[in-house]
Amino acid sequence: MRLLIGTSWKMNLSATEASQYCRTLLPLVEDVMDRELFVLPPFTSIWAAREVLAGSRIAWGAQAVHPEDCGAHTGDISAPMLADLGCTYVEVGHSERRRDYGETDEWVAAQVLAIHRWGMKAIVCVGELEPAPINDVRKWLGRQLQALSAADPKRLVIAYEPVWAIGVGAAAADPSWVGEVQGTIHEWVQSNVGSDATVPVIYGGSVDSSSAEGILAQPSVNGLFVGRSALDPVEFARIAHVNARGVQSGREASAPAARTSG
Ligand code: PGA
Repeated sequence: MRLLIGTSWKMNLSATEASQYCRTLLPLVEDVMDRELFVLPPFTSIWAAREVLAGSRIAWGAQAVHPEDCGAHTGDISAPMLADLGCTYVEVGHSERRRDYGETDEWVAAQVLAIHRWGMKAIVCVGELEPAPINDVRKWLGRQLQALSAADPKRLVIAYEPVWAIGVGAAAADPSWVGEVQGTIHEWVQSNVGSDATVPVIYGGSVDSSSAEGILAQPSVNGLFVGRSALDPVEFARIAHVNARGVQSGREASAPAARTSG
């Protein structure tokens, strides 16, 4: 399985900024052949990313979707609208959506079906709220993952995102913890969704170019999902090149030092 390395920009980067970001990123990752890369702009910037990234090896997508295809849902965006913009990936179940909009596992399950109906891949975020013993975390994740029993494993990515490791002030989870938890997610997928060989499990939560290598060294980690540090395309390019299990993608990222970014 090729490593999958992507970023959600969350509520950052206007269409103009998105365009500039993608123009900076493209040449920095042109030598990354053995990994899949993606960016998830806010809805209003997807078209701008597409304009720059079309024809490149970087995919684009969205951060949320309404489960229905059309209708009276003020302010919402549907899967056919995202498919029409060429989206490959749609993220669902992020803890910030669960917190801000009360999104439930049932809602996430319905979103996944909509994404699949329109031929896109669902990136489903799961993760415990606080550090807890492994058995408690297993139970928590088991409940969140239950919503995926009807999902198409070929169009599914699971992002393990411990909520306590996300955002300003937090630090990435310890690589051995990530390795152990993601191992249990792979086991769950194998017994509940089908062969786990087709379902990448990626890690998200305060990933940057220093924490990435240790996490990617875990055999159960199939990629990274990066938030704030990837708001700088130079840092995202560094992460895209990071060593994984002794393999370095492309040349050493030779970009200048990352500037501070929000
Ligand atoms: P962060 O966000 O890298 O800024 O912690 C990660 C995420 O929410 O996926």
